[in-house]
Amino acid sequence: MAEASPGRPFPKRLITTEDLDLEEIRRLIEYARDLRKRHEQGEGLPSQAGKCVVLWFTEPSTRTRLAFASALTKLSASFIDLEPTASSMAKGESIAETARTLDALGMAGVVMRTGHPDGPGLVAEHFGGVVINAGAGTFAHPTQALADLAAVAEKQEVWQGGLRMLVVGDIVRSRVARSTVRLWTRLGHRVTLAGPLGGLPQSWLKSPPALVEVTTSLPELGQFDLVMMLRTQREREGIPFPSPGEFARHFGLTRERATMLKGDALILHPGPYEPGVEIDPEVARSQRSLIQSQVEWGVWVRTALLDLMLSSASEQGGEAGG
Ligand code: CP
Repeated sequence: MAEASPGRPFPKRLITTEDLDLEEIRRLIEYARDLRKRHEQGEGLPSQAGKCVVLWFTEPSTRTRLAFASALTKLSASFIDLEPTASSMAKGESIAETARTLDALGMAGVVMRTGHPDGPGLVAEHFGGVVINAGAGTFAHPTQALADLAAVAEKQEVWQGGLRMLVVGDIVRSRVARSTVRLWTRLGHRVTLAGPLGGLPQSWLKSPPALVEVTTSLPELGQFDLVMMLRTQREREGIPFPSPGEFARHFGLTRERATMLKGDALILHPGPYEPGVEIDPEVARSQRSLIQSQVEWGVWVRTALLDLMLSSASEQGGEAGG
């Protein structure tokens, strides 16, 4: 069981990072660090034995799905993959009815990856246990943003605000970009979004949110503490976007451009990346790249999150919409 202090229940729904207040976010990251340290020292981890969580993934995933599966294994919980084509959804059963069925089957949680931006929110209306958005359309990918925060927190002070982050690429189709902007600006950091005109949210070009700047060219790199590169999401709805070669020429983090970064600047990419398009593979594997660390923290942040949420849900009882 998580060491949740009495009177401090943890939310049992994570649809966007705003479902957690800043204190809960810090508690989560510190708990993830604590669990990782315990594991590395050969100490036992908390147990959620007897609980079963459904991994409901209708879009491809390597790191997120396996990180959740690994996290549940670490917590001695079990999981079941809900395969849309092998479930009654293939016979037309709706998301809402499927969620109600999972509730009646006694599942403790649902982790959902979907192209439907409202999918996890809809599940939360009909399922009483833990609901975690594992990436919903272009709307949000909260556990990725939290894993990235943990990876950066290992190297830099993140709780006082004041860092400058650059996010480059296909912003408008990126749920990671949206979750990153929301999380990092709430923490008081400044975020610059750079990409070709068609890949930027048009409303933000005219009127960006507080602490956000939007630009159609690659800014001077030496001013940033963090640079996050994003993959072009050609699998999503078409937008006017340059060819891979043209994008690489104007925006790619080449070896030469990487030399312009500040000495202690860190490079992020949520993965998967296209080598030689948004990032040179040597840069992606360089000392200052956090790409592997983001994946590692993805496991520990999800382990901490599941332990806190499953413990809290048991204490609160399972009411759909709660
Ligand atoms: N970053 C991310 O969500 O990767 P996967 O699609 O492999 O889960």
